Amino acid sequence: MSSTSTTRRRVLKTAGAAATAMAFPYVARAQAPMVIKFSHVVAEKTPKGQGALKFKELAEKKLPGKVDVQVFPSSQLFGDAKEMEAVLLGDVQLIAPSLSKFDRYTKKIQIFDLPFLFDDIAAVDRFQSGPKGQELLVSMKNRGLVGVAYWHNGMKQLSTNRDRLVRPEDVKGLKFRIQASDVLEAQFRALGANPQKMAFAEVYQALQTGVVDGQENTWSNIYSQKFHEVQKTIAETNHGIIDYMVVANAKWWDGLPPDVKKGLSEAMAEATTFANKLADDINQDDRKKIEAASKAKIQKLGKEDVAAWRKAMEPVWKKFEGDIGRDLIDAALKSNA
Ligand code: SIN
Repeated sequence: MSSTSTTRRRVLKTAGAAATAMAFPYVARAQAPMVIKFSHVVAEKTPKGQGALKFKELAEKKLPGKVDVQVFPSSQLFGDAKEMEAVLLGDVQLIAPSLSKFDRYTKKIQIFDLPFLFDDIAAVDRFQSGPKGQELLVSMKNRGLVGVAYWHNGMKQLSTNRDRLVRPEDVKGLKFRIQASDVLEAQFRALGANPQKMAFAEVYQALQTGVVDGQENTWSNIYSQKFHEVQKTIAETNHGIIDYMVVANAKWWDGLPPDVKKGLSEAMAEATTFANKLADDINQDDRKKIEAASKAKIQKLGKEDVAAWRKAMEPVWKKFEGDIGRDLIDAALKSNA
């Protein structure tokens, strides 16, 4: 075959493909997988980090060639301050902020920050899967966000750069990093301490340089961020929780082709079961690693000590009951049974 006829055949083929793409644009688009960016702020070896990777694996298996899930951990793409905006602008499709970071979007979600509300994560799970918890997933739709799952991390512990951390009076006057939550701000004010809202990615340096004296977090976040290397004492207070809502841009989620939405919903449900089963093991393992590292001392508390922390934080409930609603608080208390 002459090179002229080969070239002519190639030109005709390309023109034919272009005409098909113009006549049937969805044919051309269907071939490129839909890119789904999932951005979060923690390390991969944490409950949320593992959940995001599991979701990627399952979604791509259920929707072969149709979706390309890209996970960005450790604030690589967006940190706390920008991730909500990014999902609203469509720069990412999924994020999973801590439940403490949504109070700009709904006051009701502040329920999760009330100190000593939930006895343990099993109680949190019961509340989240009940009617009130499920209502909260769709409570931000008018603000453009829809919750597609709750993911667990665990109970919060308190750490400082002081040797003694047993009773509430031990934190008087100390500066604490907090997540962007008015309830957490009130909690530290009730203790006579000075709270400072700060993005997660900045906490290690703030602790290391003494910008703040302490912080509150789960064992997995403390270990993966090496907070125990720059703190002297971690008191086992279990005074609150860090859990997540996986959220999507509501318009994007509602507008997904039905088969893609079904596959993603199934992948999300299975990844949720996987991550939630793992969360406690990761936290307990990381607690052991912190103990073995012998940098920060783990301070166990007696019943009376815990009662003193509980009493000191009590005023916070009254302050936020109006915003949150008594019905929600009662439902949460019932989940402790
Ligand atoms: C997270 O677990 O996503 C971060 C929590 C924090 O900001 O302390």
